[in-house]
Amino acid sequence: MSAQISSAPPGAVDKTGEREPLLSIRGLRVGFRRAGNQFEAVRGIDLNVAKGEVVGIVGESGSGKSVGMLAALGLTSKNAVVTGSVRFNGDELVGKPAREMRKIRGARIAMIFQDPLSSLNPVMTVGAQIAEAVRLHQRVTRKQAMARAVELLHLVAIPQPERRVNQYPHEFSGGMRQRAVIAMAVANDPDLLIADEPTTALDVTVQAQILSVLRSLQERLGLGLVLITHDLGVVAGHADRVAVVYSGRVVEQASVSELFADPRHPYTRGLIASIPNLEESRERLFSIDGSPPALGRLPGGCAFHPRCIHAEARCGIEDPPLHDIGGRFSACHFATTLPPFHSATLAAASLDKGSVAP
Ligand SMILES: Nc1ncnc2c1ncn2[C@@H]1O[C@H](COP(=O)(O)OP(=O)(O)OP(=O)(O)O)[C@@H](O)[C@H]1O
Ligand SMILES: [Mg+2]
Repeated sequence: MSAQISSAPPGAVDKTGEREPLLSIRGLRVGFRRAGNQFEAVRGIDLNVAKGEVVGIVGESGSGKSVGMLAALGLTSKNAVVTGSVRFNGDELVGKPAREMRKIRGARIAMIFQDPLSSLNPVMTVGAQIAEAVRLHQRVTRKQAMARAVELLHLVAIPQPERRVNQYPHEFSGGMRQRAVIAMAVANDPDLLIADEPTTALDVTVQAQILSVLRSLQERLGLGLVLITHDLGVVAGHADRVAVVYSGRVVEQASVSELFADPRHPYTRGLIASIPNLEESRERLFSIDGSPPALGRLPGGCAFHPRCIHAEARCGIEDPPLHDIGGRFSACHFATTLPPFHSATLAAASLDKGSVAP
């Protein structure tokens, strides 16, 4: 892969002082064969998640966030080729037999899928579905599993869980269904929870409630949490560390505070400058010039260079690896020499060039 990490990224030592991170992804690549063509949707993801840590994965639509995490869990379609390494508690998952992966998924690693509502069966009560998830991995009676379902609904702050447990998904609001999906995901006390856009379909107030439920579960259960989102605001409020993904690669990785105070990749800078800011009244919102390249038709050199305001000739030739810049990581040739970042300045520069959102 092109994005080599020279030393372990932050998170290699977790909060409890253990050396091996809960999840360690190195050089993950996912290629697809379609109609005789082969293209890569994920071109090198490197990521560590420590026990009890919340890591945000941010990037535009189609950048490979979902495919990358699904591949890490062995959930890819037949036309996919997955290479690289995914170690969970020191155990290699890439190439593990499907039967063994099924034992790990839903038990030690749980995933909330991007379209969570389709995870619920409309003709089964919510309680029966949660109980089924429990019985898939634990030897308990039906009655015990239902009692656990009530406990889990209580854990995700669903009022009157004893009554709600016997209702069908259509009797729940969208926000409550999402809570039920979260309850199901944590039913078997996983060590790691991967939540793929867990709040996208919900209104802003419910989004905030769901994120706070997730966060409090993460703290209470000591989970490692991977939060996939296209919303930097979600990352700012809820993650400890962030990996920014562009065209199937991690281009920057840093703690949330470092990333927002001093972004060291031009793509990250563009993303931050695009966040609407209520305090600074701008006539028009900033948007990054151009659009991401189509898969299989990546430009030479750095995939971001055609859109980059700092690009130089070298950027069209050499693809910069993700490299250590003092305990944080960037895949920009000029990571350490970029000018100081002011989002308003970037927006103004872009206004001059006419690259703005309507
Ligand atoms: N089974 C598949 N076969 C071929 N291509 C696929 C397959 N699954 C995903 N892709 C392609 O891989 C790319 C990355 O998709 P992915 O779903 O990971 O994007 P994403 O970053 O999660 O985007 P979003 O924010 O919209 O969810 C897309 O171009 C998608 O069309
Ligand atoms: Mg996705």
